[in-house]
This record gives sequence, C-alpha cells and structure tokens, in this order.
Amino acid sequence: MKRTILRRLSLACATAILPAVAGADTPASGGVKVEHLGVNNTLVRLDGDARYLLMPVQESNDDAKVNVLVDGKLDRTIYVRLAKSKVDYTVPFDLSAYKGHNVVLSIVTSQDRGSVREASNDACWSNFTLSDTFDTANREKYRPAFHHTPLYGWMNDPNGMVYKDGVWHLYYQANPYGSKWQNMTWGHSSSKDLVNWEHHPAAIEPDGLGTIFSGSSVLDPGNTAGFGPDAIVSLYTSAAESQIQSLAHSVDGGMTFEKYPGNPVITLDSEARDPNMFWYAPTGEWILMLAHALEREMLIYASPDLKNWTLRSAFGKGLGAQEGVWECPDLFELPVDGTDRKKWVLICNLNPGGPFGGSATQYFTGDFDGTTFTPDRDAEGNVPTKWMDFGKDHYATVSFSDAPDGRRTVIGWMSNWQYAAEVPTRQFRSANTLPRDLGLFTGSDGQLYLSSAPSPEVDALRASQVKKTGKVSLSHKGRQYTLPQANDGICEIQLDLVSRNGSPVTVTLSNPGGEKVEMVYDPKAATLSFDRRESGIVDFSQDFPAVTVAPLLATTDKLSVRMFVDRSSVEVFGNGGELVMTNLVFPQKPYTTLSVASDGKAEMTSLAIWSLSPSK
Ligand code: FRU
Repeated sequence: MKRTILRRLSLACATAILPAVAGADTPASGGVKVEHLGVNNTLVRLDGDARYLLMPVQESNDDAKVNVLVDGKLDRTIYVRLAKSKVDYTVPFDLSAYKGHNVVLSIVTSQDRGSVREASNDACWSNFTLSDTFDTANREKYRPAFHHTPLYGWMNDPNGMVYKDGVWHLYYQANPYGSKWQNMTWGHSSSKDLVNWEHHPAAIEPDGLGTIFSGSSVLDPGNTAGFGPDAIVSLYTSAAESQIQSLAHSVDGGMTFEKYPGNPVITLDSEARDPNMFWYAPTGEWILMLAHALEREMLIYASPDLKNWTLRSAFGKGLGAQEGVWECPDLFELPVDGTDRKKWVLICNLNPGGPFGGSATQYFTGDFDGTTFTPDRDAEGNVPTKWMDFGKDHYATVSFSDAPDGRRTVIGWMSNWQYAAEVPTRQFRSANTLPRDLGLFTGSDGQLYLSSAPSPEVDALRASQVKKTGKVSLSHKGRQYTLPQANDGICEIQLDLVSRNGSPVTVTLSNPGGEKVEMVYDPKAATLSFDRRESGIVDFSQDFPAVTVAPLLATTDKLSVRMFVDRSSVEVFGNGGELVMTNLVFPQKPYTTLSVASDGKAEMTSLAIWSLSPSK
C-alpha cells in the first residue's frame, strides 16, 4: 500500500521543474549516517527534510546496487557508480516523495575488499550530501547550443515522440543517476518550435516489471483504449530478465503517466522491444511494429484498442543489413517525388553493422496492406540495403506521431553505441539530431530513397547573415572565409558547388590549432565524404576517428549543401536532403575558417553563412 501512495506522491511532485541554481549546492541541515555492515554492504540513514540526496559518482567505478527502503519497505532499486577514490560529479536522488518517512539506503557494492576498514575508505561515504537544490547550470564546453540534450545524466534513444495541442513532446532513454547507460527511464522535454526545448521531470519510471526501454506514443481521439479521447497512450518495453511490452497513458498533456494495471500487454519467449504504433485508417485498427532483435526481423501486430494485440506477420529475416541486432522500428507512408503517389517506408535501426561501424539506421521502401510489408526490389530482384544517414552519429531515429500538416518529422540520437559512453563530456552524455522532415525521391537507378531535410522550424535559428557571395571559381589554393565566432562558432553554412569536368571540390572547416574537418565532393565517384580524423579530440575511442562517405543518389554534377555546426557536431544536408551525414566532432577551439578548393574546373555558385542564436 505504502508503495502505491509513495508512487502517487512522486507523480504529484514531478510536475515541478527541477529547481536549478547557479553556484554551489547548498547542504541542508540534518544528516547522513553511514554504517558499514560488511565488506560490500553499507546502510546510509537519512535524516531531515532535504529535497535531494546528492550521490557522489566516479564513472570508472562499477555500479553499486542501491536499495531504497522507506519505513523498512523496498521502494525502488537504482544502480549508481558510487565513488571509490575520487568524486567525478554528483547526481540528485529526489526525496520529496518520502517526506515524513524514514529513508534508509541499503547499498551493495561489488568491488573486491580485504576488510570493512578498506571499504569504509571509499570516497562516496563522506560525500553523500543532503541539499535542497541541485545545480544544473551547464558545465560543459561541448554541450550543443541548438540541439536537444538532457540537463544532466545519460541519454540514448528518442522515445514516444508525439505532437499534441501545438507542443512537440520528446521522451528519451535517460539515466537520472549518472552519465552512462543505466536505470532506463523515460526522460521528457517539450518544445513549441522544435528547436528550443524545455526540460520536464521524468515521465515514466522503472517498476516491478523492469526498467523502461524505448517505445512510442499515439493520440487516441476515438477513445479506443477507454482512457479518454484526449489521452496520450504510450507503449514501451519493460526490461528485466525478459523484454515485455507495457502500456501507460497520460491525461495531462504528456506530463505524467499512469501505467496500465493489466501490463504487460505483449509477451514473447525471445528478446523483443521498442514497440512503435500508428493508426491504420483503411482497416480502422492500430498497427504495431516490434523489433525481434536477435532474429533480425520486425514483428507486425494489430489491435482494436491498444491493449489486445494480435501478431499479423513478420518482416525482414535475411533482408538488408543483418549484422548486430534490429531495434527501434517505424512504419509510415510518404508521398513520392512530391506527387500524390505514396509508398511505405519501414525504418529499421541496427547495431552494430552500420556502413561505418556501430549503430546506423537502415530502411526499406515498399507496400503495406495492414498485414504484410512487401519491400521494393531492384532490377535483379534483390531487396537493396538503404541507409538514412551516412554519418557515424545517427541512431534510433523514429518519427513523431500526429505531426501537423501531414508532415513526417524525425529526430535521432546523435551518437553511436561504439563510443557514446566515452565522449568527452561528463555532466551529460549525448544530444539529439536536428529535427528533419522526410520525403521520398527517385534515384538515378530508379529506386526510391528517403530524403531528410532540416525541418522548416530550423530556419528560425538564423541570427544574422555574416557572409554572402555570388559565383566564384575555385582554385587549388582555395577560397577562405571567416566563420562567426559568437557562441563558440555555431553557424549554418549554405553553399552550391558545380564541377565542370568532374574534378573534386574540398570543403574544410578548421581552427588555428590545425584541427579540421575535410569534406570532399567527388562528382565522378558521385560521393561526398567527411573526414573527422583530425577534427579535434578523437582519441577517447579507436572507433571515433573516421571518414564517412555518402552517395549522391540523384543529381551528381552539382551539390547544394546546408551544413549546421554546433559545439560538438556537424550535420550536412546535400541536395535538399537527398544526402545526409551526421557526425560528432570535439574541436578544442571552435572552427574559425571555411575553405573551399579544387584542383580542376569547379565553381562555387553561391555561399551564405549565418550566425545562429542559441536556444540556451
Ligand atoms: C537502442 C536500444 C533499444 C532499447 C534501448 C535501451 O539504442 O538498445 O533497443 O530499447 O536502447 O536503452
């Protein structure tokens, strides 16, 4: 009973935004009493009414299992890399739901210990602090200025993205207790304009069925689920020993969720996750895609009410890229070449096995009849493997439900499982890509391909145009342009290249420290490459230094580029989104110079550079 009451309390408190203050955390009165029970077991008793317990983290340490006992009953278990020899940062554990109750943490560490005395020397024990505030002011030079990031802690996949009443809701895989993957929870941010994001308290927290893995949300205006016509209904994976699918709904515009008492709503005897659902009007029912991860196929279910699901078919065994596991599906219809003709697109994220190693997003075009997805085939009868983005840092990309004006708007996780936990930030880890609007176009091989262009809302970031040129011819020496320096050089660059005899054009971003990103447009090979091997800090992972190469699938004799440079990323959109490359970079100083050069006969027909106004 107590557990239910506490959970409700915690939801009520969750509507307030975490108080953020600049400056140091303020220790509250009251105390933390530490009692060592054995080499690997310690009790931490909390006294007083402070809002937070600040827990000291050392990232290189193993997770400690922290059982939170409230009046002697287990309320929840979280995993925290409690500090052993030094404190890297602290994370807040919110105590407001426990006011007036007796809170004790029973902590189990996993290190080898000679004696209790040795264990009692761990840095964490003297650094637990009670505080009424937790400082969320940014401490990171690589925190993007105009991409969504969590206030603190780890983030991976975007989840349950839905547009309702003028607000874009972005839920995401979050660890509230550290900047590495753990304690999966649906974090929550929202935006009225897709570029400025407001942070909210966690939306869906772990429970007895497991931690909260990826999933999707829909609006249910027909009230098929019985939660009311205004409800947002979300389906996610409950992950513990097994992966099962659970339902929750929100009747306060996506701020708080109530879990369905009949959970789980889908069980299987093998790993399956990341349910993604949508309303299929022709048959008047809900369709759901579920990643049958290790079988590398997507399961397709149908339901009249979002609670009772029937397996209709499976797609993908043996098709497309089959390395790694299949995750995070999506299925939707898009117009072809801007006409009334429509085709279906099945998104299939996979990890590892991407074109440049690690995580990537592949997709299939085809037809869907409410039961079966039939993929398009090429002239030889094969199902081609198609990639949505040709950078290394684009994963778990799925679309918003109910985007306005029939738009299909997506956001991805801007990282790669190969090194996401090692990138040189601490307070938070990972950002999202810019929002992109999708379309389908016909490539020169007659196949259909996805285009991903920056969502129109992104234009509003432009502060002032700092450079505009007409046509210039290019030489070996190249043309140099100064990039804006405000806000650590964040900018948008738009340039149009034409090659007269097929000679390559090199576009370089560089800083005085010799760090650079080199992009080569090669009309003969019909490619654009992106070399980040000398882009800045690259040595935190052997998988980070890389050259990524994108094919020009339709137009090859000219290339129109829109490039967005943030503090730790470069996104390149070619020919209206027919080509996309998303790559992280960690320059030690912002790039100051754009250089455009060619050994042959090539021109830059226009160049425009904008400084951008940051959202935070
Ligand atoms: C993809 C993924 C999903 C899973 C989630 C867990 O990045 O592995 O399949 O639901 O991350 O955080």
